[in-house]
Amino acid sequence: MVKIPVRVVDWDDIVNWSSGISDKIKRDEYKVDVIIAIARGGLVPARLVADALGVLDVISIKVEHWVQTANKDVEAKIKFPYKLDLKGGNVLIVDDICDTGDSLEIAKKFVSDNFNPGAIRTSTMQYIESTARIKPDYYAATITDWAWFMYPWNYWEDEINLIRKLLDNGVKTDIEHAFKDNYGVEPPIPVKDVLEEMKRRNLLNF
Ligand code: ADE
Repeated sequence: MVKIPVRVVDWDDIVNWSSGISDKIKRDEYKVDVIIAIARGGLVPARLVADALGVLDVISIKVEHWVQTANKDVEAKIKFPYKLDLKGGNVLIVDDICDTGDSLEIAKKFVSDNFNPGAIRTSTMQYIESTARIKPDYYAATITDWAWFMYPWNYWEDEINLIRKLLDNGVKTDIEHAFKDNYGVEPPIPVKDVLEEMKRRNLLNF
């Protein structure tokens, strides 16, 4: 079993990092007309940044990550593409994290090609400098060593996936202990509740 470094992020971190983004934009005097949240990870930070900047127009595009099973590569794509006339307004794209940079890159190109924007700048709460090919224009925290960050809006999804991996690797008892051992953190949701939810979703096929 390959260990995965995991960090549990709480709501205070989200609020602080989102303020980090808006503070930098204020200092930079970038005038934002429209905020574009990358769904789903950018939805909550985008709303917080919009509040701090006084931006009323918040819209969203969904970036999907397709796992190409043949070569295990992940390809980013816009799900539900649409056209929009922003009449040259300045855009701020917001996401939770810049890990590879793929989401920001594809979002920026899509907005440029389809939304008739003025300037386009990008922002994320976190930027992983060891893995990202591009740097967001604004970010609040620099990460040196890659980890999987469990955001508070994603605890269920992440914990299900992480427990699934343990089960697939033969863990049968004391999942809490295996979780801590393999991921380095305590599971944020009680394991018994997650197992019950996995049963409800038909994800316990053994
Ligand atoms: N989405 C893409 N990369 C991520 C990471 N390292 N942690 C959490 N969410 C992510």
